[in-house]
Amino acid sequence: MKDKIVLVTGGTGGIGQQTALGLARLGAHVIITGRDAARGAAAVEAIRQGSGQARVDLLLADLAEQQDVRALAEQVQQRYPRLDGLINNAGVFKMQRQLTSDGIEATFAVNVLAPFLLTHLLLPMLQAAPSARVINVTGGSPGKLELDNLQGERKYTGFGQYSQSKTAMMALAYEFAQRLPGSTVSVNVCYPGRATTPMTRGFLPNSSSPLLRGVFSLLQNTFFRDDGGKSAAKAARSSIYLASAPEVSGVTGVYFGTKSERLDWKPSMIDSVNRKAVWALSEQLTQLVSPLPSI
Ligand SMILES: NC(=O)c1ccc[n+]([C@@H]2O[C@H](COP(=O)([O-])OP(=O)(O)OC[C@H]3O[C@@H](n4cnc5c(N)ncnc54)[C@H](OP(=O)(O)O)[C@@H]3O)[C@@H](O)[C@H]2O)c1
Repeated sequence: MKDKIVLVTGGTGGIGQQTALGLARLGAHVIITGRDAARGAAAVEAIRQGSGQARVDLLLADLAEQQDVRALAEQVQQRYPRLDGLINNAGVFKMQRQLTSDGIEATFAVNVLAPFLLTHLLLPMLQAAPSARVINVTGGSPGKLELDNLQGERKYTGFGQYSQSKTAMMALAYEFAQRLPGSTVSVNVCYPGRATTPMTRGFLPNSSSPLLRGVFSLLQNTFFRDDGGKSAAKAARSSIYLASAPEVSGVTGVYFGTKSERLDWKPSMIDSVNRKAVWALSEQLTQLVSPLPSI
């Protein structure tokens, strides 16, 4: 990975930080994103210390806000000659439905629209590299897609919306790969597996009954016990592999699992009606006209 420049969104904590660390150890120049300058500076320092690699940069952006996504892409264009990799890693889980300042449901904004917009805006940077890889990080149990409830406007549960947002993101990733045939830019999806991170620690619902909170707490202590980043490092392996392994060069439109094995796409993700509907909605909500022709 020497001389490769890779952007990892959500690189200030959890799986993203471990992904950036792993790539820096392989010699890559990594750029991480996050929302908080102090958390970001601490992550940069930890990645530098852990890798011996000085070329670790931080860019601040709240990916829930489209103006931040656009400003992030501009900064990347101004500061770097090209991008060899983009890892759309940042993802959120919201127990309660929230709207962003753009008026968009927050899970959909971060997990679906941010990767869609950022990948489009950075496409010229990716195309400037001899070959570039876009990796989109999904969650467990995607598959459900309700086209009339993509932002949880009819009914909303945190887990339902998280799962649906990942399905929509995967439909877009599959569509990107179809729209970039024979390109130097590959687009794949990976599932990292379960890890103890800020996101999974946020699974505890504040407003639920004491009994439910007790059960959740028990489950969290069983499945998401703080392990000092060990499980996040393990979960980062599939993104690191997809971003760096020579045998994945040119492979596109593939859904990889935790052991970098190929998984089957769910019908809801590759169904052309679904893909086109999510693509059209994403274009509309980001006010972006994709230059990639529909196939
Ligand atoms: N953990 C798991 O068990 C698990 C399982 C399956 C899939 N995944 C997926 O793996 C990816 C990483 O998950 P994780 O568990 O590592 O998450 P995490 O620990 O919550 O991720 C933290 C990172 O995301 C950034 N982030 C959060 N909200 C953001 C926003 N609105 N804008 C910009 N950055 C934001 C944080 O930056 P700040 O410094 O700004 O907070 C931080 O860098 C996600 O896509 C998740 O869905 C995780």
